[in-house]
Amino acid sequence: MTKNNKNNALLFGLSILLFVLGSCNNPNRTGIEFAPNMYNSRAYEAQTQWRSNSINPHGMNMREPVAGTVSRRKYNTDFMQDDSSMVHDLMMYDIPKDSIEMAGRLLTNPIPWSESVEEEGKVLYERNCQHCHGTGGAGDGKVAEYYKGVPNYSSDALKNIPGGHIYWVITNGKGRMWSHASQVLPEERWKIVHYVQRLQLGS
Ligand code: HEC
Repeated sequence: MTKNNKNNALLFGLSILLFVLGSCNNPNRTGIEFAPNMYNSRAYEAQTQWRSNSINPHGMNMREPVAGTVSRRKYNTDFMQDDSSMVHDLMMYDIPKDSIEMAGRLLTNPIPWSESVEEEGKVLYERNCQHCHGTGGAGDGKVAEYYKGVPNYSSDALKNIPGGHIYWVITNGKGRMWSHASQVLPEERWKIVHYVQRLQLGS
């Protein structure tokens, strides 16, 4: 390497060093965005908004619900049994996720027991729970062979848990059991509760 080449290499190295150091002198500067559409989607995303939407009302990405939409919070149903004037809020959103004991104390099954309701609960149980909890609720479903820790409903620990507790577990999950809120409707959850309570009695 000639002396000139050496100097050039040194200069080049120095300028890179200066450039690198120079880019750090202001910690608040976020720098150049190389590809901004990686951070801010060009497509209209319902849950994020970083610029005004020129098509939708109010410049919002999110649309208002169509007229006549019933909000989930007011999912009130009456079961036309003893007292058809009574409506029940099946959603029970107001119990915090960490308050299982409170749910057990405060929530009662708004769907009155009947043989046909229990029968519906059984079908729903077979569809959603049986593969883990087993036909008789003993925690011996096929999946439980691999997914450990499925308890027996009629064990001393569980045979007395109230319906609200069971509803809460289906809704929010507990420990190793995941929430089933996305696949089981509130009304169906309460029907399953009737059937789980049958299984709590053991055979
Ligand atoms: C993927 C397997 C699986 C499925 C599906 C499943 N469970 Fe569970 N369940 C578990 C496990 C594991 C536990 C033990 C949770 C823990 O304490 O870690 C459990 C616990 C429970 C308990 C006892 C909660 C307590 O307080 O200890 C109830 C009640 C229950 N499940 C009901 C249901 C119902 C009803 C369904 C259907 C809607 C269902 N489970 C679906 C695995 C499952």
